[in-house]
Amino acid sequence: MHARHPTIGVFDSGFGGLTVLKVLLELVPDADYLYFGDTARLPYGSKSVETVARYAVEAAHYLEGHGAELLVIACNTATALALERITAAAHVPVVGVVEPGAEAAASVSKNRKVVVLGTEATVSSHAYRKALEARGLDAREKACPLLVPLVEEGWVEHSVTEQVARIYLDEAFADGFRDADALVLGCTHYPLLKPLLHRVAPSHVSIVDSAESTARAVAEQLRSLLPASPAIREERRARPRLKFFATDSVEKFRRLGERFLGRAIEDVRHVDLKE
Ligand code: DGL
Repeated sequence: MHARHPTIGVFDSGFGGLTVLKVLLELVPDADYLYFGDTARLPYGSKSVETVARYAVEAAHYLEGHGAELLVIACNTATALALERITAAAHVPVVGVVEPGAEAAASVSKNRKVVVLGTEATVSSHAYRKALEARGLDAREKACPLLVPLVEEGWVEHSVTEQVARIYLDEAFADGFRDADALVLGCTHYPLLKPLLHRVAPSHVSIVDSAESTARAVAEQLRSLLPASPAIREERRARPRLKFFATDSVEKFRRLGERFLGRAIEDVRHVDLKE
């Protein structure tokens, strides 16, 4: 990897991974970024392991082909179902979101009981449960398939979303998990619901944002490579080096993506992946 300005490729099924990119830009502003959103083939959260692995490996190769020296699999579903396959197919280091999320949960949970929210596919893979059990924690995983479309609709503070979240959380924090004290946001879209989830979750619960934990893990991994001066970092924060690739409409990517990234999205190219 080049010292100072490594190129990081960030991959997601669509827009959601921009929540990971947003924190990366804050913590690792020195890097150049390529972001690939597979918007033509989302959602991944309802698809099979075979399909998600095939899509994710294609995207990883695309990013590598465009100069990515480190791949961040921002999509929880792709990480949960296919991290091993992506890592085996890639020629550069690969970081997923599940391990950093589990690590962060393990460090905040005092009673070693955690609730994880994710897509159907992430929950069925039990990737989070396995990662948490390996650290001595009990986990209840809860699929919340209605939350992704609600966030994409922009209903992040809507009473309907609040009601839906309340139902999911009531079901998750029940029986043996009433006293779980950490809530892992195991899906790219959920960080946008953090204020709402803080209100709805039991008051003793800490929220663990796997987007944030992953960006911290990447920052840690690259620390020795990035000796940049504070002045350069500030200048990069104001004007990051970003290129976006989307497999569906560029216009839609810009429009929806800006909500997730919290800044204007300019350089988007349409990509047609031949299978
Ligand atoms: N990016 C996906 C995830 O984090 C959510 C959207 C989808 O299902 O494609 O699991």
